[in-house]
Amino acid sequence: MDTSKLNKSYEQNGKNLAIKGLMEKMVNVTSPVLPPLEEFIPMLEDIWESKWLTNNGKYHREFEDALARYLGVPHISIFSNGTLALITALQCFKITGEVITTPYSFVASSHALHWNGIAPVFADIDPVSLNLDPQKIEAAITSRTTAIMPVHVYGNPCDVQAIQDIADTYGLKVIYDAAHAFNVDINGHSVLNYGDVSILSFHATKVFNTIEGGAIICRDEATKKRIDYLKNFGFAGETKVIAPGINAKMNELQAAYGLLQLKRIDEAINQRKNITDLYRDLLKDVKGISFLNDMKGVKHNYSYFPIFVDESEYGTSRDDLYEELQKHNIYGRRYFYPLISQFPTYNKLLSASAENLPVAEAIALQVICLPIFPDLSEAKIREIAVIIDQYGS
Ligand SMILES: Cc1ncc(COP(=O)(O)O)c(C=O)c1O
Repeated sequence: MDTSKLNKSYEQNGKNLAIKGLMEKMVNVTSPVLPPLEEFIPMLEDIWESKWLTNNGKYHREFEDALARYLGVPHISIFSNGTLALITALQCFKITGEVITTPYSFVASSHALHWNGIAPVFADIDPVSLNLDPQKIEAAITSRTTAIMPVHVYGNPCDVQAIQDIADTYGLKVIYDAAHAFNVDINGHSVLNYGDVSILSFHATKVFNTIEGGAIICRDEATKKRIDYLKNFGFAGETKVIAPGINAKMNELQAAYGLLQLKRIDEAINQRKNITDLYRDLLKDVKGISFLNDMKGVKHNYSYFPIFVDESEYGTSRDDLYEELQKHNIYGRRYFYPLISQFPTYNKLLSASAENLPVAEAIALQVICLPIFPDLSEAKIREIAVIIDQYGS
């Protein structure tokens, strides 16, 4: 018998176990919630039986209805990811020219504009909400501006009223990148109901995940119909193509998975709230460390827990603290550093200059998002807070 293959396989297994051991000790900024496998398997069996895998199947329709009810929105169209949802939303309204947006976001926000041949125009953020500052939006409007694309960063709502007033005055569309804002309400109403459309991401790192996934929330049936055509190559019937659509459909497996996720999302958000409360309590007296607080009238989803390091008070730089945490196997993320405006695709734009974006530039150098996910243990949160406390001077 040739045992060399067997030995190699043992060796590889040993290596895998060692890597697994290491991974188990690592605490990442997030960790996805998964539905119980025993509940998913019967759905998979059903899909296997029907052989209906995608193209507006039974689970797709059920998931859209359930999501619209859960989120309290009139119309929703589910997508294979949030980036394609953003790209399609811009196509839906034939947005062209310039769109005013924030540099303080994940790069997909501006990439969606770029993929549509639209020039992003960066405006600075508000130092408290970290979302687009309405006054800066107004100052950035030119004759080429067709829309505003704000982002509800960390799920904290933008100043939706001020933004709508500007849009109405100047005749602009408002496309919200609400990738972080699943289940966020303002005064009892979903934040997703503001603007012309809102886009969600259901990526594995998000509060609510379908592994990959996303959605567009819109106001009326006609817009939903157009979005549904666009995400399916533009097909409006067997032989009719109304526009150069794309393929951005969610498949049946992910829609079924999403239905199961909905059952546990309230519990997951509650757990996130408890973690947030504990972090806030443990870090409130650490000199030079600040964090965001709940906003009046807002039901938050506690998707991220960003802290901001004021080096002059804390005594050590943000990056040193970030690396110190890594030495303890704690992997926060510097969301959003670098700013989108600092990436080579965008950094030559006039609006990308540091002088135009002083608040965003400063915040990007201070932020670390600490680990937050439902099964993060209290002991680990306490350990993280102790490291942060002791590392400062
Ligand atoms: C603000 C923001 N916009 C857009 C996206 C893109 O979403 P997706 O990853 O689902 O394509 C993400 C996250 O991934 C995001 O954080």
